[in-house]
Amino acid sequence: MTQSQEHISREVYQTTADWLRAHTRHRPEVAIICGSGLGMLADTLECQDSFAYSDIPGFPQSTVKGHAGRLVFGELKGKVCVCMQGRFHMYEGHTLSKTTFPVRVFKLLGVKTLIVTNAAGSLADGLRPGDIMIIKDHINFPGFVGLHPLIGPNDDEFGPRFPAMSNCYDKELRCLATDIGKQLGITGLMREGVYAMVGGPNFESIAEAKLLHQLGVDAVGMSTAAEVVVATHCGLRVFGLSLITNKVVRSYEDVDIVNHEGVLDVGRLRSVTVQQLVTELIGKMDINNNAANDAATKL
Ligand code: HPA
Repeated sequence: MTQSQEHISREVYQTTADWLRAHTRHRPEVAIICGSGLGMLADTLECQDSFAYSDIPGFPQSTVKGHAGRLVFGELKGKVCVCMQGRFHMYEGHTLSKTTFPVRVFKLLGVKTLIVTNAAGSLADGLRPGDIMIIKDHINFPGFVGLHPLIGPNDDEFGPRFPAMSNCYDKELRCLATDIGKQLGITGLMREGVYAMVGGPNFESIAEAKLLHQLGVDAVGMSTAAEVVVATHCGLRVFGLSLITNKVVRSYEDVDIVNHEGVLDVGRLRSVTVQQLVTELIGKMDINNNAANDAATKL
């Protein structure tokens, strides 16, 4: 086991889940991980119980500007939710097991569906800053070089040693989100695409951007794929969306330079639209229709 890997035993996840169960009456069925500048959704939950990450036993700490570092329980459209205002990234120095720690805690709390949102840079010509990309699939680049949250002893109670990833972004939820986009009149802002996770913390060099483009990546960011891999491993149904906050510079002639403040600004600008989309999706999703959960239960 290298320094970049860490095995976390089931008891540690269980201790955190037990503490949360003892401190809130909410029993969430949906978990939401909010990306940079998108944490406002948590503020709209009704009957809130809220915990600073620093007060939750076993929870990692968020160090990024734009990530509040709070876990909020409450109701949205009649469904019980738990919402992470701020996530954990590799570039903060966390192992991938730590960045994905909350996902397994959610599983132990009884969550069935995970919604992930992120801020991402666009490589696709049709995706502009302010657009919303429904994630159809991902490329987990850190996994290619052995930086992977499932490396180490497999806990069969969470999921299989060799989990399939060919169906990790639930098709029904993607269709439902597209329909909701139509109802909200934001179809022009939305399309499906492939998200690539890179380690960060630097934004891409031009040669790296060209490579990602050639590989068919539509949007790139520094999170999400590891969380989705862990969620899929333990049978959670997943829906993901990227808010496009910048285009990734792919030409030596281009004078645009991306920065974190710009990323946060676009997040704030579109946060209400993203919030509406996610809220409607939660309201309309059928909690009991979950092929992923069914498959995991049969293991
Ligand atoms: N690259 C990587 N991560 C990002 C970007 C980007 O351009 N924008 C927001 N997160």
